[in-house]
Amino acid sequence: MNNSWLYSIQNVTELTAIACYDWIGKGDNVSADKVAVDVMRQELNKLPMNGKVAIGEGERDKAPMLYIGEELGKGGESIDIAVDPLEGTTICARADYGSMAVIAISSKNSFLYAPDLYMQKIAISAKYPKNIIDINFSAKENVLNLAKYKKCNPSEIIIMMLDRERHKSIIEEIRTVGAKIRLISDGDISAVIAAAIPDNDVDIYIGTGGAPEGVLAASALRCVGGRMQGRLVFKNNQQILRAKAMGITDINKIYEIEDLVKKDVIFAATGVTDGLLVNGVQKYYDKFTTETLLLSSAQKMSYKVKTTRY
Ligand code: FBP
Repeated sequence: MNNSWLYSIQNVTELTAIACYDWIGKGDNVSADKVAVDVMRQELNKLPMNGKVAIGEGERDKAPMLYIGEELGKGGESIDIAVDPLEGTTICARADYGSMAVIAISSKNSFLYAPDLYMQKIAISAKYPKNIIDINFSAKENVLNLAKYKKCNPSEIIIMMLDRERHKSIIEEIRTVGAKIRLISDGDISAVIAAAIPDNDVDIYIGTGGAPEGVLAASALRCVGGRMQGRLVFKNNQQILRAKAMGITDINKIYEIEDLVKKDVIFAATGVTDGLLVNGVQKYYDKFTTETLLLSSAQKMSYKVKTTRY
């Protein structure tokens, strides 16, 4: 997968983010998501590839989907695509912090074919040894291990987590050791990446979010480094049967980054609203400025690109 793909997907996420601009703060999740899906689909269809959506939007939020298995492109190289056209639909609708247009591409059969389930996730920077965190440890143990390694008080450890009722017990558990929890309303792709990269104060991401978002975050970590584990969360037998039909044999498997994304990958995320990783779209008269995080695992490349378009 050569570098020209980087610029191709950068163009797609930029145009998708710009299309969302009109829906920032309008309180209309469905229209914001629809415009993102439509523009992303239209732009991906212009690329010289036999593309297939491996990670797409799903039944979970009944969104207008770029569905798993959808074929995209004008023909050419066989490519698997992971998309979240508008990560943080509600964030965009509320003009809040951290919505982005996100794509990762890789060669065939690279991404975990995860149905649209939840995934329990944990992530930290690659600068820490492998055994410091483990998805099987309690949240408290993970925090204490990291504090011990960093030789700091647990109260100095910052954990990022989605603000959800399902996290109530781990929040209480973490608070018993005095660590700081930064609760976010949405957008755990950014939160996982933030825990892995150095230029912010997030130490650990812990919690359960979307499985597709888990694969996209793992794509970014395959490029920038980082430690992450994920485990699919099944609510009922029907979900287990669906996962098995998609080839998942071990429903309790703990996925490492290389299981979630098996081959080299390219990742692009353009800010729709300002966030942890990138700034949002800015409009000045008829001029749009975007900021995109571009990553490549083969080239070990990571940079931010600011683009202005008329
Ligand atoms: P959308 O891209 O569908 O808006 O998802 C936002 C998000 O917060 C993800 O970042 C996260 O993984 C997931 O939703 C969590 O799901 P839920 O809102 O159902 O807890």
